[in-house]
Amino acid sequence: MKDFTRRDFLKTASVAGGGLVLSAGMLNAQAAKSGKRLNIAMVGVGAEGRVLLQSLLKMPNLNFVAICDIWEKYNQKYALALIKKTLKQTPKGYIDYKELIKDHAKDLDAVFIATPDFWHSPMTVDFLEAGVNVYCEKMMSDTLEGAREMVRAARKSGKLLQIGHQRKSNPRYIYAREKLLRDASICGNIMACNGQWNRAVSRDIEAPKNPKYAIPQEILVKYGYRDMNQFLNWRWSKGLGGGAISDLGAHQIDIFGWMLGARPTRVMASGNRDYYKNADGTPAHDWDDNVMCIFEFDKTFQGKKAQAFYQVLTTTSAGGGYFESFMGDQGTLKMSENPALTKLFRENNAPDWKPLIDKGVIGAGEAPAASAKIADARESKALVGYSFPEKVPGFSSEKPIHMYHLENFVGAVRGENKLSCDSEHAFEAEAAVFKAREAVTEGPLTFSDSDFVVS
Ligand SMILES: NC(=O)c1ccc[n+]([C@@H]2O[C@H](COP(=O)([O-])OP(=O)(O)OC[C@H]3O[C@@H](n4cnc5c(N)ncnc54)[C@H](O)[C@@H]3O)[C@@H](O)[C@H]2O)c1
Repeated sequence: MKDFTRRDFLKTASVAGGGLVLSAGMLNAQAAKSGKRLNIAMVGVGAEGRVLLQSLLKMPNLNFVAICDIWEKYNQKYALALIKKTLKQTPKGYIDYKELIKDHAKDLDAVFIATPDFWHSPMTVDFLEAGVNVYCEKMMSDTLEGAREMVRAARKSGKLLQIGHQRKSNPRYIYAREKLLRDASICGNIMACNGQWNRAVSRDIEAPKNPKYAIPQEILVKYGYRDMNQFLNWRWSKGLGGGAISDLGAHQIDIFGWMLGARPTRVMASGNRDYYKNADGTPAHDWDDNVMCIFEFDKTFQGKKAQAFYQVLTTTSAGGGYFESFMGDQGTLKMSENPALTKLFRENNAPDWKPLIDKGVIGAGEAPAASAKIADARESKALVGYSFPEKVPGFSSEKPIHMYHLENFVGAVRGENKLSCDSEHAFEAEAAVFKAREAVTEGPLTFSDSDFVVS
């Protein structure tokens, strides 16, 4: 696996945490802009674009030059109004991103792209070629070839391309990877992982009732959407998005390989489209409602084999929550973007964790409820659940979870740090997702090294 070095991680962690570490070696040509206001634009200000915008509005020294969104009367209007209200800035609104490039590429330091997946590759390539640094949401593209073109364009342009796998900049995730799994070897040998994102049944997103918000049909068609329903629910259409396994799974499958320091060697998967139906009984979506898959790893950072099971469901919340667990012979780390869902469990054969608690490496433990009685003699006893320390370096519960990744990118544009998820690393993770989806129809598949790199 093409891995970050330990030094890179420490730099990433400190930048993500807001304490900027400047290293002479890392100051590149872009350092000329360091400390200056950055001119930025956004393309796609729907659900995720608004999440990014909320964080960007809190970050210093950013000048919004333009906002592009084909939903002019709704999402574009909302973003322009919010920027004006919050920062008293008046960026120009665009429907077509190519017009934005024509007018502003020369003055732009960076663009943030949060459009549906099938637009990521052409937009990213065009901005990079125009000399603009790009932050693009995951998945990189709805096709592997689209993702490859993005990597090639980043290499050729010499510009920065960050992909929105935001856990890579999250100080809690960096802490778990570096301090807990590696330095403290808190789980012992990790030979199994498990991740899930379960969502309750949800019907298609509907357009606002008021006709004044409608997008003209010719605009929808011009930008690749059959109608308003497909425009709003693009995730489920082949050629536009990749379904739940790529939409949600991409984040967590990425984390398996990153935490294990390895690329998967084999994947098997199963999925079905048996729930969401049209009136005539045919599947309403192109992509599977539910997918379960198993990745095999031949050699983790500990030199061991490991298996990772991943499940994404859109037909039940199964009690809620989303997490990735790393299970070793001495303990388990249950990791989530939601701190309340994060826990550590120490196996009874593990060295005492008291010294780790005393040193502040982990927080105090919480004994299982007295009612947690053993029902069968073969059942393992419930374990004490330990928390993360109260203060994880760089982490603030006040900060939105996407903000660290945006700060990492903006820091990189200013020449202050390296990207925590450049396109080459993101491609590795996303190649695994593409293969898992393929394995649903093709049966178990083997990875080769060439699957993870772009030639
Ligand atoms: N990192 C994360 O945690 C996370 C979370 C959710 C979504 N995402 C990603 O963000 C992206 C957007 O997802 P979303 O949920 O916001 O979708 P969305 O449908 O809510 O928003 C998409 C926006 O893009 C606009 N748009 C569509 N085509 C366009 C075009 N050609 N030019 C300009 N604007 C266009 C739409 O009008 C809309 O405002 C996806 O790639 C998704 O995978 C990432």
